[in-house]
Amino acid sequence: MSDDLRQAAAAVRDNAYAPYSNFKVGAALRGASGAIYAGCNVENVAYPEGTCAEAGAIAAMVAAGESRLTEAYVIAGSPTPVTPCGGCRQKLAEFADGGARVTMATTGGVEQVTTVGDLLPGVFNAGHMDL
Ligand code: THU
Repeated sequence: MSDDLRQAAAAVRDNAYAPYSNFKVGAALRGASGAIYAGCNVENVAYPEGTCAEAGAIAAMVAAGESRLTEAYVIAGSPTPVTPCGGCRQKLAEFADGGARVTMATTGGVEQVTTVGDLLPGVFNAGHMDL
C-alpha cells in the first residue's frame, strides 16, 4: 500500500546531508492529488539550523502548490523505526487530518504504522485561537 512512498523516502534518504549526526532520514508524503513529495534532513554546522526530513518534504509539497497530505512515510537506518520529532508532528498536523496514516520505518525493513492524531494528541490548532 505504501510501497511507492517507501521507495521515494528511501531514495531521498541517500541524499541527506547529515555530517554531524551521521543519522540520515528520508520522508515521503502523498499529497491529496496523489503526487508524492520527498525530503531529507539537512544539517548545519550551527546545529539548530538543521532541518528534518519531514520539514523538507512538507516544503516540497507546499512549493508544488498542495496543502493537504493523506499519508506520510519516514525512514532511517535506526534499529527501531524513527519517530517524527515534536516539531515535525505539529508540522504534519498542519496539513493532515488526524486519521492520516504515518509509517515509521527502518532501512532493515521494520515498519510501524500510526496516525497523525495518535502522534500528537491534544494538537494545538486554529480552534484554540479567537481570531
Ligand atoms: N531527524 C529527522 O530528519 N526526522 C526525524 O523524524 C527525526 C530526526 C533528523 C534531525 C537530525 O538531522 C538527525 O535526524 C538527528 O537528530
